[in-house]
Amino acid sequence: MTDAYLLTGHVLTFDGDPFIRPWHEAVHILEDSAVLIEGDKIAAVGSAALTQGAQATHHDYPGHLICPGFIDAHAHYPQTAIIASWGKRLIDWLNTYTFPEEMRFGDATYANETADRYLDLLLDHGTTSVASFCTIHPESVDALFTAAAARNMAVVAGKTCMDRNAPDGLRDTAQTAYDDSKALLQNWHGQGRARYAITPRFSPTSTEDQLAALGALWAEHPDALMQTHLSEQVDEIEWVRGLYSQARDYLDTYEQHGLLGQRGLYGHAIHLETREVDRLREVGAGLVHCPTSNTFIGSGLFDLMGLASGGVRTGLATDTGGGSSFSMLRSMAAAYEIAQLRGTAVHAAQLLWLATAGSARVLHRTDEIGSISPGLAGDLCILDLASTPAIAQRHTRAESIWDAVFPTLMMGDDRAIADVWVGGTRRS
Ligand code: GUN
Ligand code: ZN
Repeated sequence: MTDAYLLTGHVLTFDGDPFIRPWHEAVHILEDSAVLIEGDKIAAVGSAALTQGAQATHHDYPGHLICPGFIDAHAHYPQTAIIASWGKRLIDWLNTYTFPEEMRFGDATYANETADRYLDLLLDHGTTSVASFCTIHPESVDALFTAAAARNMAVVAGKTCMDRNAPDGLRDTAQTAYDDSKALLQNWHGQGRARYAITPRFSPTSTEDQLAALGALWAEHPDALMQTHLSEQVDEIEWVRGLYSQARDYLDTYEQHGLLGQRGLYGHAIHLETREVDRLREVGAGLVHCPTSNTFIGSGLFDLMGLASGGVRTGLATDTGGGSSFSMLRSMAAAYEIAQLRGTAVHAAQLLWLATAGSARVLHRTDEIGSISPGLAGDLCILDLASTPAIAQRHTRAESIWDAVFPTLMMGDDRAIADVWVGGTRRS
């Protein structure tokens, strides 16, 4: 007989995209309701869970919000130890902090130790899935997928490929990038909850030969994902223009080499031209908003409302360690603040959707994660809506359920994570 658990509390559910439909039609909170987990999956939600789950083991979360586990759609786990490094912008930040740290991941022991620490930090923050860059070292990919399998987490990852404009010891070649990525993909993609993303870091650190080799690999394995960076800082875009004189724009450097597709994930995407937006929408590609990174490294103000409401698929991410927090709550707060600077107020319902179902959609995993629906994995995050004295005193003033949730999105951190469930098992 499989284990069955009935979780009671307020339950967050989705019925569509709240950037396309009115948010109150697309996102619901079932107050004082329940989720039934059987085995590793969600079996029932709402009144059906309450009826069917009478015999199940109860976990009561009164006044808490039961959410899908958060999904961080763009991160760099090898940058865990250099998060919050002072005073640089993108290219200097990469050269000063990132590349020296990434150099260490040829050492499997260091990679394993960091991967374990990183995934434990994610779970502490209510994040149950991530799409992470690794380093050029295949060991760094094995480390993350191994650590994820030990925790039964649904993780997307790939070897970061760079064959120019990176230091000695941190460059591969077009051929080794292809060979190593292919071997890793064949080893890991579809193994349990692991999925592989072909990972050219960004156009400035790949030659055209390398981009073409990775485009060819994607064509051979179209069910794999592809992750990279796009139009993050103005200086970077100028650099790309100089390196790729034949390209119409930054996005075209990928498209010309077979690296634009529906299963492509493009991090940042702040300074886009109209053609790029149109093309991304047409293809159904995924953009990933990295708000704490975009403010921390001084990159710019992503047009969340314009893009997501305009039909461009968008997810949410920390971009650790360019981002200044492991927390998707902090990322929601920063997304809200950036939208305010652009003149719009994103609703709490939209923020929660972005951090769960929106990210699941860009990762092409909506049949497994990102919503509380029967048949999906039992990956859940339980939010305490009064986790600190500051939040609690605001929470007592709440006049509606959404007003009760919003302060936690703006002010919450790992203290708000009351419990995490992964694959139907409560994290102890
Ligand atoms: N662009 C290329 N590499 C990186 C990285 O590691 N972090 C960020 N934020 N942007 C990048
Ligand atoms: Zn990144």
